[in-house]
Amino acid sequence: MLKHASALLLAVGLALTAACSSRPTAPAWEIANPIEPLPPPPLGITASFTDLKEPPTPARVRLGRWLYFDKRLSGDGTLSCASCHDPADGFSLKTAVATGIRGQHGTRKPPSFENEAWTLYPYFFWDGRAASLEDQALGPIANPVEMGNTHAHMVQTLQAIPAYAPYFAQAFGSPAITQDRIVHAIADYERTVMSGNSPYDRWRLKRDQSAVSASVKRGYDLFFGKAGCDQCHLGQNFTDNRFHNVGVGWDPAAKTFKDEGRFGITHQAADHGAFKTPTLRDVVLHPPYMHDGSFATLRQVVEHYNKGGEANPWLDPKVQPLHLTDQDVDDLVALMESLTGDTRTGTKVLTDFPY
Ligand code: HEC
Ligand code: HEC
Repeated sequence: MLKHASALLLAVGLALTAACSSRPTAPAWEIANPIEPLPPPPLGITASFTDLKEPPTPARVRLGRWLYFDKRLSGDGTLSCASCHDPADGFSLKTAVATGIRGQHGTRKPPSFENEAWTLYPYFFWDGRAASLEDQALGPIANPVEMGNTHAHMVQTLQAIPAYAPYFAQAFGSPAITQDRIVHAIADYERTVMSGNSPYDRWRLKRDQSAVSASVKRGYDLFFGKAGCDQCHLGQNFTDNRFHNVGVGWDPAAKTFKDEGRFGITHQAADHGAFKTPTLRDVVLHPPYMHDGSFATLRQVVEHYNKGGEANPWLDPKVQPLHLTDQDVDDLVALMESLTGDTRTGTKVLTDFPY
């Protein structure tokens, strides 16, 4: 009797297993990247997706996440967006400049784009030449020293991957794969990349006095006081999204900038050597610093400001000698170190893609 019962159980078990394996299971790439609700902005980021003219949608963000990590977007299949904007490095990199396809070196550092869904002004890149995240994403794909592709070839490559089409249909209502849709999806994913709930936020917004050290609190007074850093690094993302010459990259012998920055776009004299103010959130995750990665440490950056920047004919008048003590410099560094987010969204890394 017992023997019969166990034989029956075994048979039922086998039948169930067979039934399960004949049901189509989701492919591994889909299990690793399901449609998820939009992440809520973390403490310190008060804006909401509904403030945006066209808020991201969960289906577009999911599609954009694949595209962001998919190396097939580059000319030779070796680089994805994440190769130069690594989630582990605050969506920047721990190198001075980026290395593009075939090992080519760029001249600028990949900046972080955390919390950029809500920028004060529509300027992207160090020189502000792109007006939206959509515009911006087109740049590296076709840049010969970055992803080295053509937009047409990228579109063809993705059109030839049958498994992508259903996800375009979910995201956009029809399976067509177009350039506009590709960059729209990537940009929507980028909009969900946020950093907040840092020790600084918990101290300032939750009044948690033990979240930061006394040094951070002194650094705060300096940053927003005597050192005047908040003349440019302001708002919840610590940037005015504007352009300033703080004297980085000036060659005193040649009396020129190696990189003219904003001037290359506007040809206005005041924009010589001016670059977009970068966010300071998660800044400690991606040394070296500045558009050319010329400062190895945060201490060196503060010492640069302390001496009044590097004199040149177009230096922003907001940059003045600060007369900071060694302790003051340490305190400003401590303040910046307190801006590392304990909540960082969009950091999931994908390694498996629709095929
Ligand atoms: C080879 C390295 C490399 C790759 C690959 C790359 N980027 Fe970049 N990215 C850079 C560099 C360098 C800059 C700054 C360029 C400049 O300012 O002229 C930049 C700038 C940006 C910015 C501007 C951020 C700001 O605050 O202005 C965003 C956003 C961005 N990249 C997103 C992407 C996306 C999306 C992709 C994939 C389609 C991508 N990047 C691929 C190197 C790269
Ligand atoms: C006049 C505007 C202005 C002021 C004032 C200013 N900054 Fe900056 N900051 C910038 C700009 C612009 C850059 C980028 C410059 C470049 O790359 O050439 C920058 C870059 C930085 C960076 C590098 C970030 C990165 O990701 O590479 C740090 C750190 C920084 N500033 C901290 C400070 C501190 C601390 C103060 C106060 C002592 C300060 N800044 C004052 C405009 C300013």
